[in-house]
Amino acid sequence: MTQVVTPNLKNFLANVPLFKGAPERALEVAASVVQPRNYESETVIFQEGDKGEALYILTAGMVKLSKVDLGGYEKTLTILQPPEFFGEMALLGNTTRSATAISLGNIQTYLLFADDFNKLIQTYPTVSLNLTTTLAQRLRGMDDEAQILSYKDAQVRVAFVLLRLYRSGVIELDKNGFATVKLTHQDLANLAGTSRETVTRALKV
Ligand code: CMP
Repeated sequence: MTQVVTPNLKNFLANVPLFKGAPERALEVAASVVQPRNYESETVIFQEGDKGEALYILTAGMVKLSKVDLGGYEKTLTILQPPEFFGEMALLGNTTRSATAISLGNIQTYLLFADDFNKLIQTYPTVSLNLTTTLAQRLRGMDDEAQILSYKDAQVRVAFVLLRLYRSGVIELDKNGFATVKLTHQDLANLAGTSRETVTRALKV
């Protein structure tokens, strides 16, 4: 089912990393096939191991992507905000979800289903290149994280997590240079691979 293309949606999609620099026609096609879907706060959008049918373009709110390790502890891989997209990996090679996605607050998304996604990456090299770039960025992020998280000093790990959140726009500075962190100490602990108490201690120093 295709929908009427609104200029706003097309303009929004033009800023999504998957469609940066893509031809008008690619944006028109994408805008005509994506389906809106909203989720209430703390909803499991999909779970690690689920079959993947669509990727998600985030238009409002934040999403947490996490995995549970063998010891049963949650490790947050990343927190995304608009205009990021997620859920592309399971569509590549028709595999399962590599992580669980949960909404942090109410969120709005657009779903791009596998068939449409495949047609877009096959037809438009820019979209395909953008996809590769995003995957490379995520790989680089994981390499950096593996290095930093091997530090024993929890303060260093918490500092790294805060810096990464700042760089990705999740943490904003006000005009006085104070940071607004819309995440709990537990969220930060899951990102830094440490306990909530350790985060609280690290932030007090
Ligand atoms: P998919 O495997 O379909 O579902 C989980 C999604 O989480 C995955 O696609 C990516 O979009 C995203 N994801 C997985 N690992 C990472 C990571 N290390 N950094 C950022 N996003 C990730």
